[in-house]
Amino acid sequence: MTDTGLNPRVSSPIRMGQIGLGGGIAPMHLTEMEKNPNFQVAAACDIRLDDPNVAKQAARVTAAGGKIYPDYQTLLQDPAVEAVCIAVPHFLHRQVTVAAFKAGKHVLCEKPMATHPDECRMMLEAQKASGRVGAVQMQHVGRSSMLELRKAIHGGAIGKIREIFLSSLWWREESYYNRAAWAGKKMMEGQWNLDGVMFNQAVHFINQALILASPGDLPAVAHAENIRTALYRFHDSPALEMEDTAITQATLTTPDRPRLTMVATTCSRQERHMIEILGDAGRAIWNGMGYLLSHGQPSTEFHDDARDFEGNMRTFNSFALAIRTGSTPITDFSQIIKTTDFIFSCYQAAAWNIKKAPWAATENLTAVFGQIARQRALPTELNPRPQWA
Ligand SMILES: NC(=O)c1ccc[n+]([C@@H]2O[C@H](COP(=O)([O-])OP(=O)(O)OC[C@H]3O[C@@H](n4cnc5c(N)ncnc54)[C@H](O)[C@@H]3O)[C@@H](O)[C@H]2O)c1
Repeated sequence: MTDTGLNPRVSSPIRMGQIGLGGGIAPMHLTEMEKNPNFQVAAACDIRLDDPNVAKQAARVTAAGGKIYPDYQTLLQDPAVEAVCIAVPHFLHRQVTVAAFKAGKHVLCEKPMATHPDECRMMLEAQKASGRVGAVQMQHVGRSSMLELRKAIHGGAIGKIREIFLSSLWWREESYYNRAAWAGKKMMEGQWNLDGVMFNQAVHFINQALILASPGDLPAVAHAENIRTALYRFHDSPALEMEDTAITQATLTTPDRPRLTMVATTCSRQERHMIEILGDAGRAIWNGMGYLLSHGQPSTEFHDDARDFEGNMRTFNSFALAIRTGSTPITDFSQIIKTTDFIFSCYQAAAWNIKKAPWAATENLTAVFGQIARQRALPTELNPRPQWA
């Protein structure tokens, strides 16, 4: 049974260990744990404790009464820690998660769960063997607008789902790929890293689309088949080995078998995310807020109560509740694994081929994405075909 309440209180706070303190996301996790009575920061670790940003976050943990460790192996031996929040680079998610389960801890792992399906399955097996909870920190799943829209779609508001258009448009400068050694890399230290636009940025919205289209209770995530993908790299940064732009056509294997068209890029001047779901009785859009449309106009709107943080709070609380009551977290490992399956299959469908394209062509990407949506085609199949394709 899954609980999607925003503010459930658990019997006693979860004593958390934060693994990875620097970067963009760990400080937000600390904020959540500081203000949320269901959590208490018992410890944290980072391999770069002398880094000023890491030191600043470590000071917050110490102020809250938590211990600081120089590596995750030592943190995992601390009996005061009952669960960990993993915010280290992608290529370490599997090894840290498996070690945490072996040490008897519950795991809330940052997205992506891992970038290779086999690694996700190793994580799932370790979880099952430990009897602990395993969830992925995908905060958008917890947003009210998302959950309410999903309920309406399941209630038949748009009839049978025929087609899904997903566009996840981001802007990342070249310097973004120089910020850390793992950024933009295919492999790191012999491990899968796959830090392209699909696993890093668009993963949130791919996951949302697969969830919105899935029948059944959360966290059901749909499978896809007949996947065709084209991958491009427009950025000139030598640090970027992976794609910054991905286009996919696929079929979801839900009973309605909708067609999916996806465009994702980090080369868009305007950041914008949109999941449009066409049914045989109407249309739904999730673009940060949810809408049901009739005759092209929004007829019902679904808003978030506190836009930035409620999704985060809900995924954290659902994790806490799962630990204390045995419920299923809304981003349970056993389901979110399908999002990794989908993205990995996209790479396979493209035969791992990433075509270099000129940066100047990004000026025109929005128009090409419009063509892709209208013609339901890959760039090479478009009429007219863009020169760079
Ligand atoms: N949910 C979100 O919206 C969101 C946003 C940003 C990042 N993320 C995810 O969080 C993860 C980290 O991303 P980031 O951008 O913060 O990375 P980062 O490289 O900027 O920071 C990672 C931190 O982990 C530390 N670290 C590295 N190896 C370690 C180890 N073996 N033991 C302990 N600490 C270690 C680093 O020193 C660094 O402080 C990624 O998987 C990313 O996808 C999620």
